[in-house]
Amino acid sequence: MPNESRTRCIGVLTSGGDCPGLNAAIRGITKAAISRHGMKVVGIMDGFRGLVENRTMPLNLETTSGVLTVGGTLLGTARDKPHKMLMGGKVMDMTRTAVDNARMIGIDCLVCLGGGGTQKNAWQLHAEGGLDVLTLPKTIDNDVAGTDVSFGFDTAVQICTEAIDRLHTTATSHDRIIVVEVMGHNAGWLALASGIAGGADVILIPEIPYEMDAVVDYLQERQRRHGKRFSIVCVAEGAMSVEEAAQAASKKAARKAERDAAAAADAAPEGYRLVKESLASRLARDLQQRTRTEARVTSLGHVQRGGVPTSADRLLTTRLGTSAVDLLARGVYNVMVAVQGDRIVPVPLDQVVGHKKFVPLDHDWISAARSVGTCLGLTDTVLQGLLDQTTPTPGWNHGQDQH
Ligand code: F6P
Repeated sequence: MPNESRTRCIGVLTSGGDCPGLNAAIRGITKAAISRHGMKVVGIMDGFRGLVENRTMPLNLETTSGVLTVGGTLLGTARDKPHKMLMGGKVMDMTRTAVDNARMIGIDCLVCLGGGGTQKNAWQLHAEGGLDVLTLPKTIDNDVAGTDVSFGFDTAVQICTEAIDRLHTTATSHDRIIVVEVMGHNAGWLALASGIAGGADVILIPEIPYEMDAVVDYLQERQRRHGKRFSIVCVAEGAMSVEEAAQAASKKAARKAERDAAAAADAAPEGYRLVKESLASRLARDLQQRTRTEARVTSLGHVQRGGVPTSADRLLTTRLGTSAVDLLARGVYNVMVAVQGDRIVPVPLDQVVGHKKFVPLDHDWISAARSVGTCLGLTDTVLQGLLDQTTPTPGWNHGQDQH
């Protein structure tokens, strides 16, 4: 097929944490590029590091056959940033090398599949190095600004919901509190969605710092008034108590956190990050002590990012991947291909970079959770007080800065 578009060759890379749907997106891009627009597609291995180290693989109808339902990413992924890359023990700015390699390979536009960090890294390659880029929003955290949803999120919600369903039966049988920790970085989308879908009794998210007393009172009341001797507490990994949130906001704490992080990095072997005791485990210890009810912890961890994508994610990634190529064929670059309402739209990358989509307090998932009696970490009166002080968020679902 003759190629009349400005784009003849595209590079594709996946960056940041993996998630189900990446392969489906790579497949959508490759098939549309080759079959519909006659373009050449080059896969870059292991994110931006692969570009710097010039490691590629062919993406064609053969290499992308049968990957629609396969989790992970056939290209490999990494969290490296081109402008701050660890090279032989030294952190170096590798932007120039990345851009030169892309040009040498013959790439007209680099398509980057990733979360907030990837949007920023891709934008920097364009802003600093003049390389044309295009991005797709991927993350189970659903926190990329400018899009209603990122791919991988639906699958992760499904996995967490199923886990909560299973925890219900064992918590009931043993009259236990089970604290289930879900990912989400410092946004609460995944905990809130799966907590509601799984019928968790308490849902704690970073956007609503919790009061331990309110949670304890709620659980005790649940026992006293309703005779429920088990409870499910769904906690986002980034959730914080009111006290922790106040501390985190103070400059002193920020400096201490920096020093702690540096010390932790020193203690860890190069390339590894040490993980501290989880919030869920601290919470379970405190709840057990204060409610005199046996408590257990389940941390879902990377199970949330593994396996087969849901049909919703397969559909979404195919729409995003093929639309991305249609945009490239029209010479539209330096945008993120986003979902807004029923439509797939290009959003200028500079409007996405530097923003993060948090759960706004006036989101209808919050009011739905409250209406079914779920505890969100505060008494209903205190939560209502917070809401009353909140300015309604215009177009919250299109990714304005919420914090
Ligand atoms: O951004 C996706 C995510 O799974 C977050 O929810 C989580 O905080 C982080 O990645 C975990 O990263 P890693 O797999 O590098 O430990």
